Order: sequence, then C-alpha cells, then structure tokens
Amino acid sequence: MSQNIESHLVENRVIKPTREFSKHARIGSMADYRRIHAASVRNPAKFWAGEASELVWGRKWKSVLKWKAPFARWFDGGTVNVAENCVDRHARGDRRNKAAIIWEGEPGEKRTLTYGQLQREVCLFANVLKRNKVKKGDRVIIYMPLIPEAAVAMLACARIGAVHSVIFGGFSADSIRDRIADSGATCVITADGGYRRGSIVPLKHNVDAALTGDTTVKRVIVFRRANNEIHIEEGRDVWWHRELDYVTADCPVVHHDSEHPLFILYTSGSTGKPKGILHTTGGYLAQAYATTKYIFDLRENDIYWCTADVGWITGHTYLVYGPLANGATCMMYEGAPNWPDPDRFWRIIQNYGVTVFYTAPTAIRAFIKWGDEWVDKHDLSSLRLLGTVGEPINPEAWMWYHRKIGGGRCPIVDTWWQTETGAIMISPLPGATPVKPGTATLPFFGIDAAIVDDNGKEVGPNVGGKLVIRKPWPSMLRTIYGDRARYKKTYWSEFPGYYLTGDGARRDKDGYFWIVGRIDDVLNVAGHRLGTSEIESALVSHHSVAEAAVVGRPDEIKGQGVVAFVTLREGEKPTAELREKLRRHVGAAIGAIAKPDDIHFAEALPKTRSGKIMRRLLKEIAGGGDVKGDTTTLEDFSILSKLKLRDA
Ligand code: PRX
Repeated sequence: MSQNIESHLVENRVIKPTREFSKHARIGSMADYRRIHAASVRNPAKFWAGEASELVWGRKWKSVLKWKAPFARWFDGGTVNVAENCVDRHARGDRRNKAAIIWEGEPGEKRTLTYGQLQREVCLFANVLKRNKVKKGDRVIIYMPLIPEAAVAMLACARIGAVHSVIFGGFSADSIRDRIADSGATCVITADGGYRRGSIVPLKHNVDAALTGDTTVKRVIVFRRANNEIHIEEGRDVWWHRELDYVTADCPVVHHDSEHPLFILYTSGSTGKPKGILHTTGGYLAQAYATTKYIFDLRENDIYWCTADVGWITGHTYLVYGPLANGATCMMYEGAPNWPDPDRFWRIIQNYGVTVFYTAPTAIRAFIKWGDEWVDKHDLSSLRLLGTVGEPINPEAWMWYHRKIGGGRCPIVDTWWQTETGAIMISPLPGATPVKPGTATLPFFGIDAAIVDDNGKEVGPNVGGKLVIRKPWPSMLRTIYGDRARYKKTYWSEFPGYYLTGDGARRDKDGYFWIVGRIDDVLNVAGHRLGTSEIESALVSHHSVAEAAVVGRPDEIKGQGVVAFVTLREGEKPTAELREKLRRHVGAAIGAIAKPDDIHFAEALPKTRSGKIMRRLLKEIAGGGDVKGDTTTLEDFSILSKLKLRDA
C-alpha cells in the first residue's frame, strides 16, 4: 500500500498575469523565469552574489557559500550593516525625504517618517542602547505594539550588532519569561501599553510579571504609547523619551561580520515548545532584499502594506527589512482589522492609496465571513498586487480575494516559506507566472525544492510526499539558539543533506507545488493518507462555509475517521440538513474516502496567535479526550470550552 500522501482535489482554473502588468514587471515572462531559475539552481552562488552586490558592504566577502552540512556560512569574510542598507543609504541619497513608514494607530493617529527622519530616530535610539550598556552580541527583547518605534528598536539593535528577539504583544508574561531565560537577554524594550480592539494591552505590566525572581535582564526601556498607568522600577526601568535627552543622533555605522547573528525569533508553531530560530546578517538581508524586489515587484511610488505584526517572521522580513532595504514606502497599522468596524483595512487602503497588499488566508476567510458589504463601501482601485502567506489558501478564498479585493486585475502572489527559511522560497512572480488558486506555484531563484517519499526519493507528478529543500539558501536559519543537536535532528536528520520543511505537498504536471498540510496532521483513512488542506478547501468551496479544519479520530475499522470543524458565513444556520449536504459536497469534490464522518459546527476555530488553525487541539477534542498539550500559543482560550460544550 502506498505510503505517499494522496491527492484528489483538482483545480483547473488558471489566471495569467495581464499584459499590462507583465510589460512593466522585472520578470515579465515564464521564459525569463525558467532561464534565470535554471541558471540560479545550477550555480546558486553566482545568483546570490549578484543580489548581494546590490547592497552596501563594508568589506566584500571572500566566499559566497561555505557549506558543511547542515551548517552554512554565507558571504563569509564580508562585513555589512543592516541598518545602513535599510536606512542610511536611502537617507544619503534621493530618497531622503521619501516616506519610509506611514503609520496609523488603532485610535486613528497618523504619523509619517521619511528615510531622513527614520535614520535620525534609529541613530538616537542606538545611542540610547549604548548608553544603557547594550553591547554587540547582547540579546535584547522587543515587546511592543505595532508602532514605528518597534521598527526603530529593531534597526537600532541591528546597527550596533545587538541581537533582537521580538515577542508578539499578544503573548503573556510566562511566554516572555521563557524567551528571556532561553536567550539570556539583558535588556527589554517595551511600551506602557498598546491598542487592540479598543482596549489597552498592558505590555509593561506583563514585562514586570515576567521579571519577578531571578532574571538576566538589567534594563527595561519603556516607550510611552497609551499613557496607561505603569510601575517604574527604580534602577531598572527608564523612559525612552527621557533617555533621548542624553544622546545625539551621531552614531557612525559599524560593519558586522556577515554571519553575525541578527535576530532570534521564537516559533509559536502549532506543536511543542517554542524554538529560538537564529538568523544572521548578510545572507538574510540579501534574500529579504531580492525576494521583496522580484515578488512584490516594488516601484518607487508604491505604498506597500504587509499586515503582519513585527512579532512574526513576516513582520521581520516583509514589513521591516525587505521593503526598507528596497527603499519602499511601508504602511503600518497598529490594531485589529475589525476595529471599530470590519472595514478598517479597506478604509486604510482607500485613504492612503495602498498599492501592494500582503496578508494571511486566516484574515481573508474572516473578511469573507464578515460579508461583502464592508468591502463594497470603499474604493480599492489603487491596489495593483496582492499577496498571501501563512497557510494554504483555499481556492474559493483565493477567488474571492482576486475578484472582490483585487477587482479581477491584480496578480496574487501566494508565498510559501517559514520562520526557519527567513524569506520566501516558493511563489509566483507576478508578471510571469500563470497562477492557479491554492498553489504557491514555483521555487524562487536559487531555491532547489522537491517532494520526496519516505526514502528521500523524488516522486513524480501529483504524488504526495514531503517537501524538502536540497541546497542551502542565504536566509536559512543557522541553528536553534543554544541547541545545535536539536537543529540537526529536527531539520536535517531524516534525509541527510536535505532540509525537511515538515510540510506535505505534491507537484502537479506543471511542476507547481501544492501544500497539502503539515506532515504531522496527515490522516490515514483505510490505508489512504490524506492531507488536511484538500478536504478543508472542499468544505470552504460550499457557499455556506467560512472556515474549516479537518482532523483524524481513531476508528476501529478505518484506522482514522475524518472529523471536520466548520464555521459558517454570517447568516447561515447550522442544521442537520446542512451537515449532510456538506458531507455530500466533499464526497462529490474529492471522493467518498474523504467524506467527513462527523461535522461539528463551531463559532470559531482555535488558532495560534499568528492565525494558524491548531489542528492538534481539535484532534484531542475529536478523539473525545481533554486538551492536555501545550496551549500557550492559543489565541483565544474561550473557544476551547465552547467547542467542548457543543460536542457534549
Ligand atoms: O505549513 C506551512 C505554512 O506555514 C508554515 C510556516 O509557518 P511560520 O514559520 O509561522 O511562518 C509563516 C510565515 C512565513 C509552513 O511550513 N505556510 C506558510 N505559507 C504558506 C503555507 N502553507 C501553504 N501556502 C503558503 N503560502
């Protein structure tokens, strides 16, 4: 019996880039893509050296890649400063008075920082860090709202070679404590509070709670954002604005080794204990720069908006480092998409003339659920390119995004990558790649991706298997912080020399990659291995369904039975009749084997704080048990009790 993951959902729609878009794009045809990709995979060093030489280096590298599997050194011998590349080089030139960051706070304040102003802020704050005894190599926690100062803090760390670890503002004191302990951080940068859905998140209060007892932290720097009352611990805490009185904006660039650590980012994956993913300087910046340039195909006049928080890798690479390295104008919004109303994003796009918009499938499914009337109120004609990241996008959600948000004219880049990969690995190029809803299409330049069976052998078209990367790439993680053994074991031990992504996927006859779900979530129904995403997409393609999550449950006869959790669109009623209709709908779309044995209607699905469905918890519920595993990454705890009640 086949141990490969089977695939049954067929998607035949193909959407080609418009001639107009292709004409102006950096890569305007598939012939160009194929030619450059083939050459870049034959000789990745040559391709990446070309991209890296568009950056400013202190000293040029001696070798592009030193690879002693699984440890890579990119641009070894070279020195570089990320802040210089993201800020100074633009501030020195014609972009000095161009907007770098356009920010809107949740309560509605507006601020714009030009590249010249951003440079001044970064230099001032870098001097504040130095004044507070933060040195090169020290680890610094950043726990802030999504305000320009979060980017300033990251860039100031990068400038002096301190290693930042950003923690998403939705995490609790315990999560902060764990990350401080693991990283040995000596300084925390935070704010009194931040706004989320109209209330104030007590950030400083959470930091205080994380610092009780033994801690490595000596200094807490507090930005005043929400004016909520906070405790100031004498001798440990200082105000950001007061510190500025003691420093100047004179902070000359120092170049760091290309392999100097830039940041640690703890993954809040849907399973297990957080891991400190370590990224370094030169290679990370080169791939962040190149992918932003080609995939978002940025123009000088673009207003580019990535909706991710800086607490996630997407916020690091595509809100801060990638676009700023390209001299782009970045929109930044502090708060929730449905505050005060579900049209906040569309209002922002209209008010600022956003041209490129990059968000997550979880957000898109929420917009669909909230109803089209919120979109219809606004003029979205400024948009020219859309993007998505974070989960497989269900084809129907893709079509809605394309029609309703993109007006049928905007290409969509469905970008596949991970915290570990640091930057986009598989994605369409918007002026070249004919796209199909639901696939991230083809590997980026220099990336050698493949699908292999359990023996590490590449499988043929439309056969499911494990997604691996067969060659090192510049923005790859270098290790798990403090745990080289775990790094080797997690990512490199199953197929020596290949990086294991943990995702199941298949390639279609055109070579396009379709992610079918995490390997850990694959179901085994009567000997058939089924990925979660196809069954979920079949459910979402029914007009009553907003969102679906599919898990297995032990079944004496079939091995596993299929259990679906479904949320409905606004106005739809959960009835026994609908349940039966949905079962038949899946049967018709995929086949009888995939028909859910049970369908549970839920008000919401449990998600990680970055919006990914937590199937592990649903599996425990579907199996009739209590939720025992780690739930610290869960966004909304109340959902769990609701799910259990409904099942009782
Ligand atoms: O399963 C894949 C899914 O998200 C995982 C990586 O999650 P994280 O490290 O949190 O990074 C998210 C932002 C890069 C992947 O292993 N994933 C991400 N993008 C896609 C995706 N699945 C399908 N299609 C995508 N475009």
